Amino acid sequence: MTDDRTFGPFSGPVRGSVTVPGDKSLSHRALVFGAMAEGESHIEGLGPGADIESTSQVLRSLGVEIAEGTVVSPGIAAWQAPEGDLDCGNSGTTLRLMAGAIAGRPFVSTLTGDSSLQRRPMRRLVGPLEVLGASVETSGEGTAPIEISGRSLRGADIAIPMASAQLRTAFSLAALQADRPSRVDSPPGFRDHTERYLHAVGRGEMETPTRFRIDPGPLPPLRSAVPGDPSSAAFLVAVAAITPGSDLTIEGVSLNPGRLGFVDVLRQMGTDIEVTTTEMQFGEPIGTIRARHGQLRGCRISGDLTVRALDELPLLGVVAAYADGETRISNAGELRAKESDRIASTVAMVTSLGGQARETASGFTVIGTGGLEPGRVETDHDHRIAMSAAVAATAAGPVEIADAAVAAVSWPSFYEELEALWLS
Ligand code: S3P
Repeated sequence: MTDDRTFGPFSGPVRGSVTVPGDKSLSHRALVFGAMAEGESHIEGLGPGADIESTSQVLRSLGVEIAEGTVVSPGIAAWQAPEGDLDCGNSGTTLRLMAGAIAGRPFVSTLTGDSSLQRRPMRRLVGPLEVLGASVETSGEGTAPIEISGRSLRGADIAIPMASAQLRTAFSLAALQADRPSRVDSPPGFRDHTERYLHAVGRGEMETPTRFRIDPGPLPPLRSAVPGDPSSAAFLVAVAAITPGSDLTIEGVSLNPGRLGFVDVLRQMGTDIEVTTTEMQFGEPIGTIRARHGQLRGCRISGDLTVRALDELPLLGVVAAYADGETRISNAGELRAKESDRIASTVAMVTSLGGQARETASGFTVIGTGGLEPGRVETDHDHRIAMSAAVAATAAGPVEIADAAVAAVSWPSFYEELEALWLS
């Protein structure tokens, strides 16, 4: 598919209040939790992206009815064996979460996805699901398609070596079906949406800041309103950060601390950001992010801050090009396992727009050069690279974004809504 798009520049500050579509991580989880429960769940404000449709499609293949936020399920114990492969499209979250959910079902199923998803590492699922008693087979390269032979599961404790919410969630969804409690531990910084929800419905507890105990049993049908996606809000906040005179508020977004690393980074860089919680849902804070432009300086991003800002690191690479001095991102090896190798694709994006960036052993470094220039960005079929390039284009454009339509994976109307910041 070729769908190049030339975007930007736009002049003047961005001001006012806007909203963004429903959160992707929470939408996947709400669908899966609702489908595991017996009965009817109602989810308002599901994210509009193709990844969420992938989760809905996989659940439908198991006998769950999903239409416009209503999920009607016979309960996980009555999920049917799927007829063909379960196609997760471009969505790693769909594949990993569903692998966990079906690990306790007494049938064999194959999970697969598009060519980008088939390059991503899946061997990491084997240990956490096999310790509970399921059997998981990946391709010889450790990738999808993966075959899961579900079994009756036994409770187990595991320490996962990486701070991955997807792996923790896969384990937890399987462990809900085990014969006794299980525990999962990992390094810190992960988004803990699953842990907060399971705790809210009485199915588990954080025993330490990182160790979660899962108490097996059924989930109740849910009624929820998905808050806005902070990873989508981040693109708009970044525009405010690089555009003098801006003062922009994003309302109604998830403020889960595992999602707000980009706020901490931008504050360190000199953006004036206020975060205000206005409500709680299933133990999760929801509220507003207000960003006012300030003079930007480079910073260091490492350790759990890297984990908490992981999906926003390509975008922060663009912001860093507008800062004084050097921004160094480390402990970010996981970026190589995303929709593209995001260390390589971010460095390529920044340099193709006239910036200075280079790969390092565990991340990348950007040297601020006062901004970027017009150019062309190859997006490597990665929505976050395309959208980060569009943010660069607002200030530096025109930028030709290759395969720009890939933004639909998380936010189909992204370019129009970004441009609308200058129309209101
Ligand atoms: C996600 C977890 C993160 C993140 C991904 C969504 C989730 O992945 O990068 O976009 O919804 O659990 P990892 O858990 O692999 O770090």
